[in-house]
Amino acid sequence: MATKPGKQARETKKTPIKIKINGQWHEFEPGRDIVPEMTLSYLLREKLGFTGLKVACDEGACGACTVLMDGKAVLSCMKLAAEAHGHEILTIEGLPEDDPVIRAFVAQCEPGYGTALQCGFCTPGFVMAAKGLLNENPKPTTGEIKEGLSGNICRCGCYSGIARAVLHACEENKGGKPRSFGSMHLPIGPSVRLPASTSRPKGRGKP
Ligand code: FES
Ligand code: FES
Repeated sequence: MATKPGKQARETKKTPIKIKINGQWHEFEPGRDIVPEMTLSYLLREKLGFTGLKVACDEGACGACTVLMDGKAVLSCMKLAAEAHGHEILTIEGLPEDDPVIRAFVAQCEPGYGTALQCGFCTPGFVMAAKGLLNENPKPTTGEIKEGLSGNICRCGCYSGIARAVLHACEENKGGKPRSFGSMHLPIGPSVRLPASTSRPKGRGKP
């Protein structure tokens, strides 16, 4: 018996891929919105505009693309977007500004350890990797922090500062006093305001 066109269309309609991203469920049509080979990093950055995560190596070697999946740190360049079906993804955009890890990274500037960020390219990956680590182990030792973040690379070499920042975030998690940005002694000069007429190069790439 011939199948009516409407019925056939209903039968061939594919089950949507549902992913909760930063607290909001998104629905994607397989084949149209998400093709089988699409990575989670591509979906998040290029399709949805969550450009906080960076794609540097695109082969699981640098940690720049780290996000949380159900609270655990994952490399989004090594996950297929379709694998996230039914899961909860958190990117750095989903963290509140006063998150203890973010505060600690921004405030870190102790002599002898240095800052936790210079160019900042690796920072979202380190912050999300640290969040994943603290979810599993809220009181890690310095050794455990080093081990936990060993999959992330910082080209600026801020490793000591990053480890210190994560230690301070743990202290704040444990009820310690939040670190104040106001009393920071920044190891850099004051910012310089450019005259309005100064022309700036206009990059076209995504941040
Ligand atoms: S971009 Fe994913 S690990 Fe380097
Ligand atoms: S702060 Fe520049 S790569 Fe880490």
